[in-house]
Amino acid sequence: MRIVVLVSGTGSNLQAVIDAVANGVLPVEIAAVGADRLGTYGVERSANAGLETFEVNFKDFGTRSDWDAALLEKVASYSPDYVVSSGFMRIVAPDFINAFEGRYVNTHPALLPSFPGAHGVRDAMAYGVKVTGCTVHFADAGVDTGPIIAQTPVDVLPEDTEESLHERIKLAERELLIKVLGDLAHG
Ligand code: GRF
Repeated sequence: MRIVVLVSGTGSNLQAVIDAVANGVLPVEIAAVGADRLGTYGVERSANAGLETFEVNFKDFGTRSDWDAALLEKVASYSPDYVVSSGFMRIVAPDFINAFEGRYVNTHPALLPSFPGAHGVRDAMAYGVKVTGCTVHFADAGVDTGPIIAQTPVDVLPEDTEESLHERIKLAERELLIKVLGDLAHG
């Protein structure tokens, strides 16, 4: 199973996938790692791991649709079986969803459909929930919408900050993402 992973930031969840592949735990080939901007640590750590990387820098494109087309063309050029959004902070165009229908997997640090969007951890804390968690789902053209594949609950502790809670969620998120990718690889 060939995957392309998309990141916008540090890529710590991606690192867990890279490690799982390297350790033989995950029977997946990471065809490439791409970002929507320049200079992400996610791309840097991928290059350090000897992986193919690319950047389709949003700011280099005059229009949103030009960027959409460039991203689709680049990702498709690797012929992935699945595309994984791992901290990729952009909504992709309907053409992208159509091209990878049922094959575009996203991770989110909350129990969807609660708390979608860029601040899932903060919003869950602000609401005062006592349990939140993470979701791995097939993404559609909405914001963190699409069929849920798997979820893990994570308790919110009284002493939690957004950072401490997000770190604990990410531990669960990594495990869940690797499990889901393994399940997909095994059909
Ligand atoms: C993850 O919690 C992801 O779900 C969210 O951003 C975080 C990415 O962290 N959208 P990292 O880049 O893997 O460190």
